Amino acid sequence: MGSMAKTGESLMAWNRKHLLDIESLTAEEITTVLDTALAFKAVGERAIKKVPALRGKTVVNLFVEPSTRTRTSFELAEQRLSADIINFTAEASSLKKGETLKDTARNLEAMNVDVIVIRHSASGAPHFLSRVLNAHVVNAGDGAHEHPTQALLDVFTIREKKGSIAGLNVTILGDILYSRVARSDIWALTKLGAKVTLCGPATLVPKTFEQMGCRVTHNMEEAIRDADVINLLRIQHERQRKTMFPSINEYSRLFGLDRQRLGQTKPDALIMHPGPINRGVEIDSDIADGERSVVLQQVTNGLAVRMAVLFLVNGGKDPQEISAN
Ligand code: CP
Repeated sequence: MGSMAKTGESLMAWNRKHLLDIESLTAEEITTVLDTALAFKAVGERAIKKVPALRGKTVVNLFVEPSTRTRTSFELAEQRLSADIINFTAEASSLKKGETLKDTARNLEAMNVDVIVIRHSASGAPHFLSRVLNAHVVNAGDGAHEHPTQALLDVFTIREKKGSIAGLNVTILGDILYSRVARSDIWALTKLGAKVTLCGPATLVPKTFEQMGCRVTHNMEEAIRDADVINLLRIQHERQRKTMFPSINEYSRLFGLDRQRLGQTKPDALIMHPGPINRGVEIDSDIADGERSVVLQQVTNGLAVRMAVLFLVNGGKDPQEISAN
């Protein structure tokens, strides 16, 4: 028995083969991931950080879109769980020669892989793979649809810092329309009882998001005034089909978080960002590196959250039963 942190009451609320999105999860399932991640965070603070939970299992990291944080975080999580790992990028594969995603994935599965972690520019790619494969599928970000492990690490970090999620005012600022992080965060936060405000240019934050249970405003001062958490998003230039605002300078002037605006926020409001950060556009550099910023703690927590997700989709039940390797 390892010296793991005590976890919450909801530990067993998980019976899923895949993690495809946050939309289909219940609040209890989300809490189960958070509680399991708490136990794995304690593992990461031990002298021996490795556990045998996925020993003998093979995980493929199939990243068909660029990534720094998510790819390295999944790979380290898999190493800490003692899995065998294959890293797979589109550039170095037969996807470049015209092979379909289905054929690529089925060929990988023919080598008896157990888990496929996929990032893809097409929304729904992980759901598609889950229908054609027997392996467990974990969504590492699909188009502008969802980024479930980012949302789970975001709510984990908020819960760690604020104690709970219910009743908090959380503002998500920036390019909501093209952001998979925004969609997953909105699902996770609203399911856990937070009040979510979305803010940015009207072209990037349409009123239709109110249907997801959020408040929508295009006034930055109004959005940040009562916020307990401010989550900033970069402009997703790679997904925008046309320019959605006159200039980066104008965007930064109207919606960038600078010192003067930080002074209008609650003194204990958390500043979050999923990365990659465009310094000087959505956030001033000294705020990104400042004492209110939890950006790097989000990255640290992402590792524990991804260990928890891989453990749970593989049928893990109680992380307390895992001993050090
Ligand atoms: N937050 C996030 O998904 O970052 P990467 O694109 O670097 O993985």
